[in-house]
This record gives sequence, structure tokens and C-alpha cells, in this order.
Amino acid sequence: MKRIVIAGVSGAIGGALASAMLERDPEATVIGLCRKPEQAPEALRGHKRGGVLAWDAADAGSPASVAEALEPVLGRKEGIDTFIYAAGLLHGPGLFPEKRLEDLDAVSMARAFAVNSTGFALLVQALLPWFRHRDFKRIAAVSAKVGSIGDNGFGGWYAYRSSKAALNMLVRNLSIELPRRCKPAICVALHPGTTESALSEPFSQSLAKLTVHTPAETAANLIRVLEALDEQGNGRFLSWNGSELPW
Ligand SMILES: NC(=O)c1ccc[n+]([C@@H]2O[C@H](COP(=O)([O-])OP(=O)(O)OC[C@H]3O[C@@H](n4cnc5c(N)ncnc54)[C@H](OP(=O)(O)O)[C@@H]3O)[C@@H](O)[C@H]2O)c1
Repeated sequence: MKRIVIAGVSGAIGGALASAMLERDPEATVIGLCRKPEQAPEALRGHKRGGVLAWDAADAGSPASVAEALEPVLGRKEGIDTFIYAAGLLHGPGLFPEKRLEDLDAVSMARAFAVNSTGFALLVQALLPWFRHRDFKRIAAVSAKVGSIGDNGFGGWYAYRSSKAALNMLVRNLSIELPRRCKPAICVALHPGTTESALSEPFSQSLAKLTVHTPAETAANLIRVLEALDEQGNGRFLSWNGSELPW
């Protein structure tokens, strides 16, 4: 994992992944993507092997701009060997996890799908020319266990659950197409485990019973899982400890 692009580096998990990736390998280059590059960690922005480009999942034209801006910093000939999608949306202005059917809102659902699912596939589409090299490529989407259809015993959280389930289906589709078009490549969905972040903060009281990881711990866990994967790991939905989750 040497030529790395991470989407969502202004977030807790994305930022920690970027820092950990830079630290663990003195030859790694890490390019981060987020809406406001100035809000990305200084450890990435100011690093000689790092950089941050502007990207907004809500803007359909943004992946093309990312591709254009990426070429001079990490050329398509050199390519990307690791792409991690760590952007995600659970709550925000006018958006909060729905408890019941009456809470559903079309605009909120569209926002959740843009960030939690569509944004991933459109970035992979724009970055496809960077995956056409002969080295092993890992493409990973940070999903969530609550996006598992098989594991859903509680209901609620309609927009988040359904957009993460859609993300998982995109991962599964790409796990079929990418190895055909840019072999050797794998595409996986990762559950990061409950992690301290702005996304989980409103639920900190109900999370008190659960193990909550720091972003640095989560980054280390996800890197361990990713690093252990070979081509046999393609198309899987894995938890932070490496265990398999039901789709
Ligand atoms: N924390 C947990 O306990 C937990 C558990 C399960 C799964 N996850 C998943 O882990 C991933 C990272 O979450 P986190 O905990 O690190 O949350 P976070 O700190 O809130 O980070 C969320 C990231 O998503 C980005 N984002 C939101 N809307 C965007 C948009 N329109 N365009 C581009 N980027 C956008 C944010 O960028 P801005 O800074 O610009 O808003 C930020 O970089 C998410 O996919 C989340 O669903 C987290």
C-alpha cells in the first residue's frame, strides 16, 4: 500500500487512516479528498508525501475535477494501489436518523445516498485509469454493520441503513467488474467498529455500553484487515477485527 487515495480525510476515521498510512511506510504517498481541504489534518496537508484535493460527494461533477487535479500529483501511469472511501453521513442540518416511517424525507434520503453510496462508485469510475496497472490493488469502502440487511433486527435509521446497504451492493458489483478490468484487484466493504467522531457523537450515551475505539485505533484495525487481504478476500464485508459480516 504505497500509492494511496483516501476520500473523507477531514473526518475522524479518514484523517487517522491518512496519518497512519504516512507513518507506517516511508515510501507511501497519500492523497486525501474532502470538501474543504483546509480542514484536512495538517499532518497530511503539510506532509511532503501527502496532499489534499477538493471533492464533494453532493456534486456530480466533482469526481472529474478530482481526476484532473490528481494527474499532476499522482499520475495515472504510476497509478493507485489503495483507494479507501471513508466519507459518510448519518446526521446533519435537517437530517437525523429516522425512528419511524413518518420521519422519512426525500431530500435527506437523497443526501445520505449521495455521500454514503453514489459518491464511492463515482470516484471509482473517475479513478479507473489509475487502477490499470499490474500491481495488486485494494479498493475499500468504509461501510457500517447497520448497513447489513441480514443483521438488521432493530429497524429505524432508514436513510443511513439503506444507503450503506446500497454501498455494500456497489462494493459487491465492483468486486466482480474490477478484477476483470484491472486484475489483480479486490473490492471490499469494511465495518470500522464504533469510533469516536462527529458522526457517532450524538449517540455517545447509548454507545457507553459498547467498545468505542479512538480514530487511531480504528485506523490501525482497518489497515491490519486490509493488509492481510489477498485476491481470495475479494468481495467480502469485513469487520474491524477481520471477522466476516453478513451482507
Ligand atoms: N464513527 C463510527 O462509530 C462509525 C461506525 C460505523 C461506520 N462508520 C463509517 O465510517 C466512515 C467515517 O466516519 P467518521 O466516524 O470518521 O465520521 P466523521 O468524522 O463525521 O467523518 C465523515 C466524513 O464524511 C465527509 N462528508 C460528509 N458529507 C460529505 C460530502 N457531501 N462530500 C464529501 N465528504 C463528505 C465529511 O467531510 P466534511 O468534513 O466536509 O463534513 C468527513 O470527512 C463513515 O462512512 C461512517 O458511516 C463510522
